Amino acid sequence: MFGTWEELEKSIENCNRCKLCSTRQNIVFGVGNKNADIMLIGEGPGADEDRLGEPFVGRAGKLMNMAFDMLGIKREELYIANVVKCRPPGNRNPEDDEAMACLNYLRNQVILVKPRIIVLLGSIALKNILGKEYGITASRGKWVEKKGILYMPTWHPAALLRDDTKKIDFIRDFQKVLEKYRDIS
Ligand code: URA
Repeated sequence: MFGTWEELEKSIENCNRCKLCSTRQNIVFGVGNKNADIMLIGEGPGADEDRLGEPFVGRAGKLMNMAFDMLGIKREELYIANVVKCRPPGNRNPEDDEAMACLNYLRNQVILVKPRIIVLLGSIALKNILGKEYGITASRGKWVEKKGILYMPTWHPAALLRDDTKKIDFIRDFQKVLEKYRDIS
C-alpha cells in the first residue's frame, strides 16, 4: 500500500496487471474530494469514461448528478471511484481476475480518503467489497458496518435508466446516507 496519492497514482500509470490494459484509452482512477467523508464505488468505466478519464460522466453519471441536485449533494464533495479502472470491452461486467488485479488500487484509495460512509453502486461493487454472499436486491438500502466504515449498497445508476421504479429507491438510499452523515458528524 502507498502512503501518498502521488505514489499511488504513479504506481497505476502504466498498469498492465490485467487484459483490460490492452483495450483501454485511459485509466479512470477516481475523482473528487480526497478527504471526503462519503465515497462512492461503481463498477468500471464505460465508453465515455474511458474517453475522458473520469468516472460517471456518461448517461448513468448524468442521471446520478440529477439525483444529487435533487438531494442537495455536491458531487465534488464526494470521492468517486470504480472497482476496475479500465473499461471492460462492450460494457460487459468486469471478470473476477480483472477485479482481483485491480482491487488493491481501490483499497489503497479507501485507506487514503478515510471515508466514514461508502455507497456501493450496484452488484459488482457490492460483491467485490463486501463479499459474494451479498445480493443487491436483498441488500440495497440496508447499512452494513465493517471495520469502522458504514456501507450503503444501492442500485447502480445504469439500472435506473432501465427501470424507473428504481429511481425512488436510489433517492431513498441516498437520503439515508445524508441522514446518517448528519448523525455522525
Ligand atoms: N458505470 C460505472 O460503474 N462506473 C463509471 O464510471 C461509469 C459507469
